Amino acid sequence: MKKILVLLLLVSCSKDFFYMPYGSKKIVKKEINKNDHQVQKDIEKSIESDIKKQITETKLPEAYKDETLLNEAKDLFKPLVKYQIKNQKLVDLGKKLYLDASLSKNGKISCNSCHRLDTFGVDNEVTSPGHDGTRGGRNSPSSFNAASNLAQFWDGRAKDLEEQALGPLLNPIEHGLASKEEVLAKLNTDEYKKLFKEAFGKEDAKTFENVGVAIAEFERTLVTPGKFDQFLSGDFNALNEDEKRGLRKFISIGCTSCHYGATLGGQDYQKLGLVEDYPTKDLGRFEVTKDEDDKFVFKVPNLRNIEKTGPYLHDGSIASLEEMIKIMAKHQIGEKITDEDVKDIKSFLVSLTGSL
Ligand code: HEC
Ligand code: HEC
Repeated sequence: MKKILVLLLLVSCSKDFFYMPYGSKKIVKKEINKNDHQVQKDIEKSIESDIKKQITETKLPEAYKDETLLNEAKDLFKPLVKYQIKNQKLVDLGKKLYLDASLSKNGKISCNSCHRLDTFGVDNEVTSPGHDGTRGGRNSPSSFNAASNLAQFWDGRAKDLEEQALGPLLNPIEHGLASKEEVLAKLNTDEYKKLFKEAFGKEDAKTFENVGVAIAEFERTLVTPGKFDQFLSGDFNALNEDEKRGLRKFISIGCTSCHYGATLGGQDYQKLGLVEDYPTKDLGRFEVTKDEDDKFVFKVPNLRNIEKTGPYLHDGSIASLEEMIKIMAKHQIGEKITDEDVKDIKSFLVSLTGSL
């Protein structure tokens, strides 16, 4: 039904469009000598060719095709919205904690070591070295736009940013602090005392849990809207032709069955190798739920800024975005796609890079 309506709209619009030039175009009327048939014929001919030329030059305006695409996109995605800061002091404290390398065993590791604010919330390493150089088995996901995730970590084991932020501080291969008490001891300065008091509006606010609250509030501000959001808000020209073709393919091939919502991911858990097995030793969400069906299941990653956040997958094993697109089509959808498709989808994915 929707398609028929769109078709009707197209036909009626295009008719209007073809008729419009008669009225709008200035056709210079030459003096017609009624007796001079030749001149009259010439004029008629010139008017006719003028009109023909106009019609052949008049392609169906891109906007009509864009409108269908835009409506489909609006059903699947949502624009990213900047966080409305309610308590600037809490955000500022969270940022200071995020950047503070003294909150680590060797005094050199902060959240920013692995989730760098100047590189879209990642470190672009396969896996990240912690305080003693040891690397974990998983790639660092971006802290940017992470507030939109249904849960945190590749396997969703932390329910929100508050809970997540406390994990790395005590993780033996990340910040490497031994206990909550050790974290608080590192914060035992007059400056932090004052900042916690101001941020939380009360004395004795400097608790381990509140470290998580402040960091999470800062992370909520790490939202990176870009031209895709302008497109979703109705500006057809915010995306160029290559990017729009890529978006059409991203939808029609079926990437959107998992990558949807404001961050094109983060809303679902799905098996890596859903259609065709993919080799990995990481059991993913099974480690959290112990449910057989959750073997090799991961949180669908957020695709905002994806061009900047490689290498890809939970283990950082894939360096190129092109290869990543081919793997997804093959293992998640069971489609073999052409190099042209890969190129177009990549153009769309690159358009998801926002501003810092
Ligand atoms: C040594 C590197 C390292 C440090 C330091 C570190 N992280 Fe992470 N972070 C990771 C890795 C690796 C993961 C993924 C682990 C997993 O899923 O099992 C992760 C996951 C996350 C996630 C989840 C994102 C998502 O999409 O699921 C957030 C948010 C995050 N870290 C924020 C922080 C904050 C805040 C700090 C500081 C308190 C911090 N990280 C310190 C490496 C690090
Ligand atoms: C059935 C669900 C599903 C479908 C369909 C799907 N993906 Fe994914 N995608 C995932 C999951 C799950 C991961 C993470 C897997 C992992 O890390 O082990 C992922 C990872 C990715 C990544 C890497 C993200 C990162 O930060 O490492 C990209 C890029 C990506 N997908 C793009 C696409 C494209 C393009 C399509 C369509 C051709 C697509 N996906 C189809 C579920 C899906």
